[in-house]
Amino acid sequence: MSTLAWTESLVLNQPKLDDTHQEFVELLNAFGAALDAGADALPAYHELLAHTEAHFAMEEDWMARCGFEPQNCHASQHAMVLRVMREALRYATELNDREPLSILRTELAQWFPQHAEMMDAALVFTMEQRGFDPVTGECREAAEAGSTSCGSSSCGH
Ligand SMILES: [Fe+2]
Ligand SMILES: [Fe+2]
Repeated sequence: MSTLAWTESLVLNQPKLDDTHQEFVELLNAFGAALDAGADALPAYHELLAHTEAHFAMEEDWMARCGFEPQNCHASQHAMVLRVMREALRYATELNDREPLSILRTELAQWFPQHAEMMDAALVFTMEQRGFDPVTGECREAAEAGSTSCGSSSCGH
């Protein structure tokens, strides 16, 4: 059984982001499959972590080009997830404790759909409103300077 199924609700109609998210789901499933097979899941986990670092960096680059401040709540959530992912890797490699890895597999599968449907969807909405094209990196309407909002209605900022 796969860890996380790709569903229509995950599609945000932003081709580059949708491709990246689909890759994330595939890598998470490959990591889960390695855990289930009792195989060494670390190579799959390294791949997932490297991909997630690039995935978040890409979104944060878009945020910066759209005028978000670096310390917005969407970027903070990325930072928190990466911190936990790196900590789980440290437990596995330095302490030979793989338990955090298998906990993370479940946590990431729960976290990702919420994050994509709220924060990433809000980012895509803001990008569209400001006429930002990820292909060229150009933004038609530079945002008000000092905007800290992540654009998500779930966020009070
Ligand atoms: Fe994302
Ligand atoms: Fe995100």
